[in-house]
Amino acid sequence: MNNIDWKNLGFDYLPTNINVRAYYKDGAWSELEYTSDEYIKMHMATTCLHYGLEAFEGLKAFRGVDGKVRLFRVDENGRRLQSSARKLCLPELPLDMFVKACYEVVKQNIDFVPPYESGASLYLRPVLIGTKVGIGVKASHEAMFFVFCSPVGPYFKGGMKPIKVIIDRVQDRAAPRGTGDIKAGGNYASSIFSGEKAHTMGYSNVMYLDATEHKYIEECGAANFFGIKDGKYITPKSPSILPSITNKSLRTLAEDMGLIVEERPVPVEELASFEEAGACGTAAVISPIGYVFDIDTEEKITYGDGQTVGATCKALYDRLQDIQYGRAEDKFGWTLEVE
Ligand code: PLP
Ligand code: COI
Repeated sequence: MNNIDWKNLGFDYLPTNINVRAYYKDGAWSELEYTSDEYIKMHMATTCLHYGLEAFEGLKAFRGVDGKVRLFRVDENGRRLQSSARKLCLPELPLDMFVKACYEVVKQNIDFVPPYESGASLYLRPVLIGTKVGIGVKASHEAMFFVFCSPVGPYFKGGMKPIKVIIDRVQDRAAPRGTGDIKAGGNYASSIFSGEKAHTMGYSNVMYLDATEHKYIEECGAANFFGIKDGKYITPKSPSILPSITNKSLRTLAEDMGLIVEERPVPVEELASFEEAGACGTAAVISPIGYVFDIDTEEKITYGDGQTVGATCKALYDRLQDIQYGRAEDKFGWTLEVE
């Protein structure tokens, strides 16, 4: 057994028992391998180290009210990793292999799935890297896939509490025909500078605008954005936004709750008209936005009193977590039980 303080977990790496690996060479994937080794040995001229030929995923397993452990929408993450692989010219991992790797990581680390009462979860990090050795900028026909996991608490300190967000045009996250729509490590590299600046200024997150005109909302840090008004769930549409699986689930839940769902370009001026706003993602779940500050215009938009979670955000959060923690029927077939 481990001595983890489940109630005070942050979003950090903690060692577990086993991680899973597979290798692609000569046109075929190896069998999955299981190891307790936390290190990867690689040649210094490996492609992923130099040219960012890397993509990853993030998903969670939850210990439910009934004691059962459930993975959330693992097939969606598998498909998204395939789309990342296609754009980075890396070998695609078969979906069944992705699901098996995730399933086994949870199963073999089952004691690291936090207890139900803690409100924490087990975060899985599948990673695909180009492992061809060379110094030319070209596709890697050799690759490694691995999945490790770590018990995690809330992504933002303080849990489900409204966050402060800054609009700062100092850095664009992704270009329209770039890699914003896949989960490539390079996208995060191009958000570090603005993210660090925001943290120094006391903000949890940067709201990224479209790179062409800086007119439309794209992402909220490492999460999608949504706004609520007039009985509508409104979320930005753009070729440089990562298609969030949490957002996709929230759109379904919002419709199920009787809200109208709109996926369309959202101009930055529209922020002031929302009744509620939030950031959504696997790590973030739903992080309601307390206020948004635009560093250029110095305009500050506050939602409600800036400190209380809005009713619609709360209802969506509860519906999502009720399915994840097995408190409600999984009527959309989103979870996979790990036995
Ligand atoms: N957008 C970005 C840039 C992200 O890094 C993430 C995190 O995964 C998301 C959105 C949310 O996606 P998902 O809900 O699939 O985790
Ligand atoms: C996730 O929500 O799974 C993410 O990938 C966000 C992350 C970069 C911490």
